[in-house]
Amino acid sequence: MWLSAVRFGTLQTRDKSQRITRKKFAEPLRQVGSVETMTNRTLKNDRFLRAIRRQPVRQTPIWIMRQAGRYLPEYREARKQAGSFLTLCQTPELACKVTLQPLERYALDAAIIFSDILVIPDAMGLGLTMVESIGPVFENPITRTDDIRRLGVPDPESDLGYVLAAVRTTVDHLAGSVPLIGFSGSPWTLAVYMIEGRSKTDFSKILSFAESNPKELHELLRILSRSVSVYLTAKAKAGASALMIFDTWGGLLTTRQYQEFSLQFMTRIVKELAHSVPDTPVILFTKGGGKWLESMAQSGCHAIGIDWTTDIGEARSRVGDSVALQGNLNPDSLKNSDREIENETAGILAAFGRGSGHIFNLGHGIKPEIDPAKVSVLVHAVQDMSRRYHEWVPTSVKRRADYSSKR
Ligand code: CP3
Repeated sequence: MWLSAVRFGTLQTRDKSQRITRKKFAEPLRQVGSVETMTNRTLKNDRFLRAIRRQPVRQTPIWIMRQAGRYLPEYREARKQAGSFLTLCQTPELACKVTLQPLERYALDAAIIFSDILVIPDAMGLGLTMVESIGPVFENPITRTDDIRRLGVPDPESDLGYVLAAVRTTVDHLAGSVPLIGFSGSPWTLAVYMIEGRSKTDFSKILSFAESNPKELHELLRILSRSVSVYLTAKAKAGASALMIFDTWGGLLTTRQYQEFSLQFMTRIVKELAHSVPDTPVILFTKGGGKWLESMAQSGCHAIGIDWTTDIGEARSRVGDSVALQGNLNPDSLKNSDREIENETAGILAAFGRGSGHIFNLGHGIKPEIDPAKVSVLVHAVQDMSRRYHEWVPTSVKRRADYSSKR
């Protein structure tokens, strides 16, 4: 549609007497350096993508990890109607519907495609099921080193086509309102589930496997890195505007092991994505990774997600302006009073301080028991209180800054 492909603004010129005259103009977004996805769509709200690139924004963007989930009654209803969580994931229209649910309630600055990190191991033949009160369980977990040799890299179109279809449908429905985030688990976090066989475990199998079979584990992590790279590339090409890698279990590792089993492989993926989809920014999130921010920043990622145990102000001074930061309200804060939520939000905004490069989020996924009204309190608090930290540059100046800014 023509209207979505243009940005209206004011052109300043000088007349003969050197007085400034302002003329309304409309020009293609592409020419003003605005952010576009691989499918050449233009975005009405590109605050999230601007913040990832540390470009000026009017207010701090916000989205919420697990924003489409069980705390929403409409999600629980959709899951009941679908019959199961996996049917929701595997039916593109339903995955799209659920992805959009939180955006209908709240003025969020990004959508995240409804899916799960475990669809990759499922596509490798491990047989994912979701068991009530346990969570994900694999029918065929990796129990012997021989199991690793049999694994192949899933083809995104033929093995995970339902996810790509969900991305395409959702990008169509979003119609450029906000960007869509595509995601994957990190190789290490996927390997944890593939070897443990289920969630809610004590991690004894994976940790002893890492001790006794490091070579075989490296082989598994290499296959997973390749799988994640091609999968995320396909998601970006299907229309995802940014990519996030969830390294939920990186924090289990020692510093040496983190480098060897997790960060090394995430870095490899980031480098591959920089070639395959160079315009798509990547966010790395290691839960419990606060002590490794400097080395995470060296991976080439655009942003680091931090959990609530790290002070975001300290994190910022450690990474400087090499990357943006995403986070980091304690997910349990949403159980508090409205006033307390506002105060904690104010504290995080103040700790990050002035300027762009902050994407507000929780420090981990929203919990099912949270009252949806509390999310409204949080979103409004970020919108109202963050403006004072941003110096909004007038359109004409911003346009010049956009020209000169890199990816
Ligand atoms: O953020 C979003 O809105 C997108 C949806 C999303 C889900 N899982 C849906 C989901 C995302 C980004 C994930 C990622 C994911 N899945 C991670 C990494 C992020 C994190 O939380 O650390 C992990 C470790 C998984 C694996 C997984 N999937 C677990 C451990 C569970 C059970 C956890 C629980 O809360 O019961 C799931 C199931 C799952 N994935 C649900 C949702 C909405 C709940 C399923 C249901 O409806 O019963």
